[in-house]
Amino acid sequence: MKLRPDSLAFALSNAAHALAAVEAGHALPRALAQVFDGRDMPAAARGAIQDLCYRSLRQWGLAQALVTTLTDKPPTPPRLKALLACALALLSEHTPAYADHTLVDQAVSACAADRELMRAKGMVNAVLRRMLRERTALLAQLRQREDLRWNYPAWWIARVRAAWPAEWEQVLAAGNVQPPMSLRVNRRKATVEGMLQRLASAGIDARQIGPWALRLARPRPVHEIPGFDEGWVSVQDAAAQLAAPLLDLQDGQRVLDACAAPGGKTGHLLETAQLDLLAIDQDPMRLQRVAQNLSRLQLTAELRQGDAAASDWWDGRAFDRILADVPCTASGIVRRHPDIRWLRRPEDAMQLAALSADILDHLWTLLKPGGKLLLVTCSLWPEESEHQAHSFAARCGARRLPAPGQLLPIASAEHDHDGLFYALFEKPLA
Ligand SMILES: C[S@@+](CC[C@H](N)C(=O)[O-])C[C@H]1O[C@@H](n2cnc3c(N)ncnc32)[C@H](O)[C@@H]1O
Repeated sequence: MKLRPDSLAFALSNAAHALAAVEAGHALPRALAQVFDGRDMPAAARGAIQDLCYRSLRQWGLAQALVTTLTDKPPTPPRLKALLACALALLSEHTPAYADHTLVDQAVSACAADRELMRAKGMVNAVLRRMLRERTALLAQLRQREDLRWNYPAWWIARVRAAWPAEWEQVLAAGNVQPPMSLRVNRRKATVEGMLQRLASAGIDARQIGPWALRLARPRPVHEIPGFDEGWVSVQDAAAQLAAPLLDLQDGQRVLDACAAPGGKTGHLLETAQLDLLAIDQDPMRLQRVAQNLSRLQLTAELRQGDAAASDWWDGRAFDRILADVPCTASGIVRRHPDIRWLRRPEDAMQLAALSADILDHLWTLLKPGGKLLLVTCSLWPEESEHQAHSFAARCGARRLPAPGQLLPIASAEHDHDGLFYALFEKPLA
């Protein structure tokens, strides 16, 4: 039996494929690409699959524990376990997106339509119906466990609590809600007022939340945003929009964007001043996305594949400004990437901090005396952020200039942004 692409069963079946790949260690964007690539699938179906994956991963710890509680032995193949976990995650939501019985029927249909899972449809039906009968008691019992109540690995909760003793609960809670969609207005093409008017005429509710930042009342596909294809706006979180202003850019400066892909900040640098900008990234596929972003914004920079901790891409001309948006655990943006908390390991922060320290030490040698280097991470872990900034300044004799430091991802009416870290350094003249 073939499932209709507009059915929930179709979305569940494909989400189960992607979620099983995440369980096997793949990042969600890659897992989704494997599901989508080469298939003629309506945009709405893709959106539904993506939505199911995001919702499930925000409840993944609890969903896995429910699978264990409600089955006699681990369901195989992994796709079956993922399908059950996905349905159980959706049945555990505080505000369910689907009616209970629709969800159960559609999960059973997803099984029935899959040759390998067909035999398990009775079991899936029984497990999900038991969940409906015993839901309140089951959830109350499992949520006594702190890791299941918060839906993070226990080590993650312990780290957030140790690093941010006053705000840890708000930080964890912020990671579990759907993030807002924020835009950056391209000042070369538009004004904030002009863009707000254009959105209003398209019936899109938005408000200004930063000098060039707007937040939409509800997220929507980018191509529905008037002016997006013409480069009037880019999608960018409000915290990420602080990088370009901190660098104090002037026309004519030679600037290096050292870890540039996918180019969110590259575009902002070029919107801010007429720069001689070189953007490098180690990953050639991701570098292509910088090219696509700049082409949409009608801006130009020199793009090169390169390792920021080496010089084989460098022409010997020193830089006035360097943006070092270094690779990190991304622990500050889990609300946008709910797979991260399940894929990271406790030792990742130290390993990435060591890699970034090499990058920073090398970049420092490419900076002119009097020049400025901005360190950015999207991490909450001090070893990648404040400790890194502190030891870098001490090692290299860098002068620290005012910068926001750690911005915690706290979702409230006034503050609603990702968890980024900023440290700004100046190279002494002599
Ligand atoms: C946090 S992302 C950059 C985000 C980007 N600045 C933006 O605003 O869209 C970090 C990037 O560093 C790149 N990267 C990792 N190691 C690198 C290295 N040794 N040299 C250059 N780029 C590296 C990754 O491929 C990734 O694209």
